[in-house]
Amino acid sequence: MTATLAVTGIGLLVSNRPELGDGLLGGIRDAALLIHNGRVVWVGEQRAMPEAAGDGHLDAAGACVLPGLVDPHTHLVFAGDRADEFAARLAGEPYAAGGIRTTVAATRGASDAALLDGARRRAAAALRTGTTTMEVKSGYGLTVSDEVRCLRTAAAISDDPALPAVVATFLGAHVVPPEHAGDPDAYVDLVRGPMLDACAPLADGCDAFCEQGAFDAEASRAVLTAGAARGLTVRLHANQLGPGPGAQLAAELGAASADHLTHLTADDIDALAAAGVVATLLPLAELSTRSPAAPARRLLDAGVTVALATDCNPGTSYTTSMPLIVALGCLHLGLTPDEAVRAVTAGAAAALRLDDAGHLGVGARGDLVILAADNATHLAYRPGMDLVDTVMRSGRVVYSRR
Ligand code: NIG
Ligand code: FE
Repeated sequence: MTATLAVTGIGLLVSNRPELGDGLLGGIRDAALLIHNGRVVWVGEQRAMPEAAGDGHLDAAGACVLPGLVDPHTHLVFAGDRADEFAARLAGEPYAAGGIRTTVAATRGASDAALLDGARRRAAAALRTGTTTMEVKSGYGLTVSDEVRCLRTAAAISDDPALPAVVATFLGAHVVPPEHAGDPDAYVDLVRGPMLDACAPLADGCDAFCEQGAFDAEASRAVLTAGAARGLTVRLHANQLGPGPGAQLAAELGAASADHLTHLTADDIDALAAAGVVATLLPLAELSTRSPAAPARRLLDAGVTVALATDCNPGTSYTTSMPLIVALGCLHLGLTPDEAVRAVTAGAAAALRLDDAGHLGVGARGDLVILAADNATHLAYRPGMDLVDTVMRSGRVVYSRR
């Protein structure tokens, strides 16, 4: 294997290190970078590159290069689909949290091989659109053994160097499964007890769906504090379908991220800002559930770091495409193209508390995307078009259409 790789001919490099380049994205024109043993060891204008530095060479041919995209919120592991529910929604039916149970039944009924095959196909599709790191939640198993199975599936994807790196999250508190409908408190005790015991070794984070029809603040707090006590990072589905206590709870618990945030008060925004919680916004889920747009501008103005994610799941957002999410971040949430690109790279890495992803400064993972465009605005300007030319993970080309 080539130890040092030079990437040259970069028309515009998005470094996300404002000290290295121009503007919010730290843009460097006519740039190059060197990757050694999977990490960036040098970045700058090509004319300043150390001589004879690389034993391998990749020419970007004048294109724009971005850090590998980071998808900080997915429910990648599931079986079945809910196209009928989607069509009914477009005919006027409202979305309700209970639809999750349809996917729980399909997931429980799927073999290990089928579950892995579906998740692997989606992870591969994500990679082809530029995603090099993704968060993957459990949450469609909801028994001890099925939640473990979902997290093992996530681990199998993580182990494959030709797929995105995975950050795994335990979401036993997704919805109360039918067998516990009569006693939701007993289900919360199962989640924060034996289920967490079995799942914590397989997870980096712990999440809860704090919403009407799912879990209230007290139940969500009980699960998340138990997860935090096991060393898991806290994140929360909050204020998705209506106003509620989720955002305040995320602030109280010092969560890494609060996700959705479609319905926020001014106090909620202040609390998120004061606690340094990243706001992970999910624009396709809003469009698919016919919800209003999250207050992205107000969050940014308050100093909150904003991330964007696919929320890939069969109920509210069946996509793995982060370029599509960049476009919707602009067209639905009102971000500028630079803000949206930052939100799927540096913002998303902050939501996952990763300091070596989402930028291309020295020490970063050698994860990058060569676009078929000379600047990143094209991702928003040409939605749905195939603008990813080459994807590199840890200094290795894992996808190229050249
Ligand atoms: O993020 N909100 C909770 N979970 C998913 C939806 C899951 C489903 O409908 O299956 C979401 O939108
Ligand atoms: Fe979600």
